[in-house]
Amino acid sequence: MASVTDSADANNPLFLALDISDIDTAASIAKKLKPHIGGVKIGMEFFYNFGARGYERIRETGLPIFLDLKLHDIPATVSAAVRTLARLSPAMLTIHAGGGIEMMRAALSAAKEADAPPRIVAVGMLTSLEDADLKREGIPQTAEIRTRHLADNAIEAGINTLVCSPREITPLRERFGGDVSLVTPGIRPEGAKADDQKRTMTPEEAYRLGADILVIGRPILHAGNPEAAARAISESLQPHRPGE
Ligand code: C5P
Repeated sequence: MASVTDSADANNPLFLALDISDIDTAASIAKKLKPHIGGVKIGMEFFYNFGARGYERIRETGLPIFLDLKLHDIPATVSAAVRTLARLSPAMLTIHAGGGIEMMRAALSAAKEADAPPRIVAVGMLTSLEDADLKREGIPQTAEIRTRHLADNAIEAGINTLVCSPREITPLRERFGGDVSLVTPGIRPEGAKADDQKRTMTPEEAYRLGADILVIGRPILHAGNPEAAARAISESLQPHRPGE
């Protein structure tokens, strides 16, 4: 039987971005950090490297998995992909809001057919893009307006979980109130290196502003003691959790 310290806390908003290129290290770190995180995010790099077999190694930890493959294709292809990926029972699965309302609806309805439907999460405008990139695409919107536009489309398609940068938490909360769940990368604890993240926020700030899930990778993975780093972040959020 698993001891209390072995078990994940399903309501812990901290998700570990498992951006690790060695499968054994990834599996062992996920297992070790399990008591201090709510789940792990598996992205394209991991999935394309290790496939479903590697995924299963992580799933064996019992942690909820956020499968971040950012699907973007015609509705029929995306719904087929969602149906296939749903067999892996991820807790969450990303698609691009830019794929259009019909694509998002198709993804959602494919997810609902699954025995354990993954929560479909919409990725809006990539934070690597800015106004000039939109202009180059022929899109006459600012990044801010584009972000709001894609969020509106996701909501219209019936998707209520959005990925956003920390600086979008407040405008999205103002627009949608409690009707959406927000998943936020770009988080850095006080004093942590920013790496390539440009506009960061501390876990506490982002959580207090209204993020529901915080995706954090390098500040934990590259810490001298990843377990202690995850524990410290998790404990900093504890007082702000509902019911605390
Ligand atoms: O290491 P770090 O905490 O920056 O990891 C953040 C994770 O969130 C990475 O897996 C990264 O790919 C992802 N992500 C991001 N910014 C976005 C979307 C996803 O950092 N806009």
